[in-house]
Amino acid sequence: MNEYILSLINTLSESHSLTLEQYRTLIDARCVATAALLAEKAAAVRKSIYGNNVYVRGLIEVSNICKNDCLYCGIRRSNRNCDRYRLSKEQIMECAAEGYRLGFRTFVLQGGEDSYYTDDVLCDIVTDIKSHYPDCAVTLSMGERSRESYASLRRAGADRYLLRHETADKVHYESLHPAEMSFDNRMRCLHGLRELGYQVGCGFMVGSPNQTAETLAEDLKFIEEFKPDMCGIGPFVPHKDTPFRDHPAGTVELTCYLLSIIRLIHPPVLLPATTALGTIHPEGREMGIQSGANVVMPNLSPVSVRKKYELYDNKICTGEESAQCKDCLSARMESVGYRVVTDRGDIKK
Ligand code: 5AD
Ligand code: FES
Repeated sequence: MNEYILSLINTLSESHSLTLEQYRTLIDARCVATAALLAEKAAAVRKSIYGNNVYVRGLIEVSNICKNDCLYCGIRRSNRNCDRYRLSKEQIMECAAEGYRLGFRTFVLQGGEDSYYTDDVLCDIVTDIKSHYPDCAVTLSMGERSRESYASLRRAGADRYLLRHETADKVHYESLHPAEMSFDNRMRCLHGLRELGYQVGCGFMVGSPNQTAETLAEDLKFIEEFKPDMCGIGPFVPHKDTPFRDHPAGTVELTCYLLSIIRLIHPPVLLPATTALGTIHPEGREMGIQSGANVVMPNLSPVSVRKKYELYDNKICTGEESAQCKDCLSARMESVGYRVVTDRGDIKK
């Protein structure tokens, strides 16, 4: 590792900021030694804030019906091979009840942009979860909605919102999405969510088609400036029924490298070791945690629908009961020296 790269890593750990050009250089300088140094620094700073705690979020995949046609996604509307489903309110409440019994104190409702979930329907579900489980946080991950909709959901009690920015480069964004989707609207949504008092999560895929060190540098700069409370990054994994079916998956190495850098950019960020990372490598999530992540998201969806929520091929955790999935993840975290904790796990500021 040359002196210059070492100095960049030191600057990043001390000032939590680099220029775009420096981020690009650091990305291009990835090797075993730089990755190890970044992971060590990331683990140390995370430990100083969160100790050995890893937070769990119970993921409830509420619907795979989606009006969007993102080119990378297995549940895009033009995929005729996708067996569509939507959970009823009763099914969602049952998942939450099971999750609560298992110790979960955050529920993430994630789904496609399904017009069934009007504000009335979704607010009713959020209100019900919050009144049954006032000690729990409700996170929504239901895509782009109007400002008024986000405001109503917030009033109904939603605490957090996940909306990956997907890429901070407008031209790159346009190459991953159909013309009717807009980068500017995505950014408007993210800023609106922040203004409404949500804890906000952004994020992107690693190794998506047309991604370069330059676009990744822009992602890092965006994270530095936006300071998200949460940031979901995982490898792109091709799905057989999408236009990107033949594009190679992102790598564990680059994903872990970026997790370490993001931890150093924004030390308190809640950073999941994603299911996609566990899909491309059997120990992917353990490696993600060792690189600076501090959140895992076991699946709480009914087993009957899990295979249908297939954003990418070969997704893991589709056969297990919720309890098995949680125990599996707890054991995995303990195997690398971490402790799964079940409190709400709010960001420490
Ligand atoms: N590979 C990896 N991640 C994907 N997502 C969607 N499709 C894929 C894929 N093929 C991610 C997107 C989206 C999140 C819910 O899942 O980043 O925001
Ligand atoms: Fe879900 Fe292992 S984490 S089965």
